Amino acid sequence: MKKLWGGRFTLSAEEWVDEFGASISFDKELVNEDIEGSMAHAAMLEQCGIIHSEEAGKIREGLGLLKEKAKNDELEFSAKYEDIHLNLERMLTELIGSAGGKLHTARSRNDQVATDMHLYLREQVKELILLIAEFQETVAGRASEHVETIMPGYTHLQRAQPISFAHHLLAYFWMLERDRQRFEEMLKRINKNPLGAGALAGTTFPIDRSCTAALLGFEGMYENSLDAVSDRDFILEFMSAASIMMMHLSRFAEEIILWSSQEFQFIELSDTFSTGSSIMPQKKNPDMAELIRGKTGRVYGNLVGLLTVLKGLPLAYNKDMQEDKEGMFDTVKTLKGSLRIFSGMVGTMTVKTSNMHSSVTKDFSNATELADYLAAKGVPFREAHEIVGKLVLTCIQRSCYLADLPLEAFQDAHPLFEHDIYEALDPNTAVERRNSVGGTGFIEVRAQLVKAEAILEEV
Ligand code: ARG
Repeated sequence: MKKLWGGRFTLSAEEWVDEFGASISFDKELVNEDIEGSMAHAAMLEQCGIIHSEEAGKIREGLGLLKEKAKNDELEFSAKYEDIHLNLERMLTELIGSAGGKLHTARSRNDQVATDMHLYLREQVKELILLIAEFQETVAGRASEHVETIMPGYTHLQRAQPISFAHHLLAYFWMLERDRQRFEEMLKRINKNPLGAGALAGTTFPIDRSCTAALLGFEGMYENSLDAVSDRDFILEFMSAASIMMMHLSRFAEEIILWSSQEFQFIELSDTFSTGSSIMPQKKNPDMAELIRGKTGRVYGNLVGLLTVLKGLPLAYNKDMQEDKEGMFDTVKTLKGSLRIFSGMVGTMTVKTSNMHSSVTKDFSNATELADYLAAKGVPFREAHEIVGKLVLTCIQRSCYLADLPLEAFQDAHPLFEHDIYEALDPNTAVERRNSVGGTGFIEVRAQLVKAEAILEEV
């Protein structure tokens, strides 16, 4: 079969070799972007007098038809034509004849594919920004129901200090907020026009790159043709931010898994987001959360994969770069799926507030309150820490908690202890009073919620 680039070849390629080199099985995802890019290119060629209006009209018509067919899933791609660009060009030529062959004037697949990828990622990132915001909204909504729900806060997965459950949820809100900002901020780098760079060196034709930039909605263009066709840092930036976001989701997923275990019993996931076991009838497994934690691995893998593909490449385009696509598509798909599932999972989970609360009455997470109590009365904090540590030890020896000790035991430890320590030891008081800025105190958590809601209104 004669190739579109077959002029200088004498032997025709073998099918299995073609198969190996082809990217159509995955880059067909770029069909709309490729048509859009071609439309803009043809319009520019016409405007600059490089092709006749009549030819441009035919190209426009043909591309319009292909667009329609793509919408109805009627295009039949073939590995014989290697990639989306050559498949579409062949179809166009079949439709409109030799005018189709003019479309590639002053263009190379190298600037064409870069353009497609920029257009694709720009749209996907915009969609992801909205999905992140939707998830943030769910998180903030659940938080607003639980400002006064007290739970143990942990460090080293050991009970540390009691906190508000809303505060814990809002920690994820702010992580997601930075994730969203990262996606917003990368848009200005994604939204640059590589078209017109040609294969690597620009072109002798009097093209107008700002015209295609405007038609494609790009703000500005790549200033260097070699850079335009050979870098994929815009994808790497996307994948880096995606990896960071998945790390956040994975940590949240891990907590969901822990909280829904028999050991914690802090939440129960809705049946919709859980699965059973084929052998153990009692099981209700947090599969979706586990899957999100697991899928984080492929998102990291896609990032490291592309970094590795690019690291040794001489300028400009190399076929290695065809390997940039599947990871990008996969990352987009994984992020969208994970965000949707997570939002549903958090939005529908049952919070077992009484279990959360009763666990903070049976631990030593109020020990800091006692140390603070003495420190507030002028005892150096280090000394107070030591005294309370001894009281905790006494409790452990007597198999009780701090609030179970009689006042005399406290006063033996330090004469400044008075009856109001029992009030200080109450986990509610402990949380309510922590109103330093960004703290877990109810007033501060409500202030956070106000800020969170204001942010979401802006999105
Ligand atoms: N399918 C190719 C890719 O995705 C398109 C660019 C091909 N350019 C070339 N000179 N072979 O990388």
